[in-house]
Amino acid sequence: MNPRKIVVLTGAGVSAPSGLATFRSLGGLWEQHRIEDVASPEGWARDPGLVLRFYNLRREALATAVPNDAHRAIADLQDRFEVVVITQNVDDLHERAGSRSVIHLHGELRKVRSTADEATVEDIGYTSVALGQVCAKGGQMRPHIVWFGEDVMHLDEARRHIEEASRFVVAGTSLAVFPAAGLVRYARDKAEKVVVDLDPPAVSGGFRVLRGSADVVMRGLASEWLGSGKVR
Ligand code: OAD
Repeated sequence: MNPRKIVVLTGAGVSAPSGLATFRSLGGLWEQHRIEDVASPEGWARDPGLVLRFYNLRREALATAVPNDAHRAIADLQDRFEVVVITQNVDDLHERAGSRSVIHLHGELRKVRSTADEATVEDIGYTSVALGQVCAKGGQMRPHIVWFGEDVMHLDEARRHIEEASRFVVAGTSLAVFPAAGLVRYARDKAEKVVVDLDPPAVSGGFRVLRGSADVVMRGLASEWLGSGKVR
């Protein structure tokens, strides 16, 4: 265990104060769209245009969203700690807030990859993808997003970081989706563990529960851990 290492596992609730919709809250994305239509290989095979439109809209929303105090407080922790963010979020708000080490378990909205060659990944920023947009090999470009039934990215690397952390925060996630949710069990018994959420999920293993909006609560926690009361 590294006494200076903090790992923060984040979910959609951390980006909610930036105006990005969560998935399972009232009015969340999965209430308005069927997962099997827009977030599964079968949905893509059936209607790739619908899938592209869904992620084009997410990318468009991200273009105008800005990081909130949760993202900023997590980045501020780097002043005194080695901080690794493990996120289920596909937005880039952690990076834009200044976090230097961000692991995206479920992919990244700004990236697309070829269906003909998965090593061909492109950063398209906040632009849209259309049907017929192909790579040099002629493969349609698809969102670089992990759909249900596909392999989560960087799972082993994420686990190793959690095992090394002396402080572990789980913030803004319902812990409803595995294997990402299963990562919490790799936190060390002796690590200081905190769960931050408006409606905290049940999590065993000695977590301190901080109920509230991630922007407010993370700012307070960062002040406590930085010992200065000073958070940007
Ligand atoms: P969910 O929508 O399942 O859960 C969001 C969590 O954030 C809930 O626990 C809410 O209580 C909490 N929340 C909402 N607003 C908050 C706020 N202002 N402050 C703090 N907490 C807040 O989202 P995730 O757990 O991130 O995967 O979902 C996990 C995965 O399911 C996503 O990555 C996505 C989805 O299907 C893929 O698309 C592959």
